[in-house]
Amino acid sequence: MQKTITRAVPTGVWVVTARSGDKINGMTAAWATQVSFKPRLVAVSIAPPRFTYSLIKESGYFCLNLLSEDQIELANHFGFKSGRKVDKFKGVDYENGPKGSPILKDAVAYVECELKETFKTGDHDLFVGEVIDAAELKKDARPLIFRWEDFFGKK
Ligand SMILES: Cc1cc2nc3c(=O)[nH]c(=O)nc-3n(C[C@H](O)[C@H](O)[C@H](O)COP(=O)(O)O)c2cc1C
Repeated sequence: MQKTITRAVPTGVWVVTARSGDKINGMTAAWATQVSFKPRLVAVSIAPPRFTYSLIKESGYFCLNLLSEDQIELANHFGFKSGRKVDKFKGVDYENGPKGSPILKDAVAYVECELKETFKTGDHDLFVGEVIDAAELKKDARPLIFRWEDFFGKK
């Protein structure tokens, strides 16, 4: 399959957040989706070098924060630098979820999850989480749609 085929399919844009002790971090992710009703499970594909990956592994929890169509700057903010080097939460409003994962106050909705399974999938690992808390924060907001060219230039 040509790589441009999957790039042509729109997905949502999320900020995946996690906490381990007093360390918090978040990163942008386009590869996230619900994968089961009963139990309610979501999956997100995260590359092992990401700082967020380490925090999820350490804590066993993560939160998916859905961005709205006017938040492309926030997606860039969380998606192009590592929390190992900078505090990406400086100036960003958040609250702690029931298990401590940061919830972005400006997100459309959030889904906090307990990590249930991790699958090695090529150069990313697939984290499957069971939903423990979720809410819509902005009624009527339209989600930010991931298009490859909006973030990474030409296909
Ligand atoms: C729009 C967009 C979508 C992204 N989707 C993913 C993804 O699904 N999985 C992933 O591992 N990285 C993804 N990234 C890259 C990470 O967000 C990026 O490497 C980030 O700097 C990692 O931060 P961290 O080291 O603080 O965790 C995406 C980046 C952008 C801009």
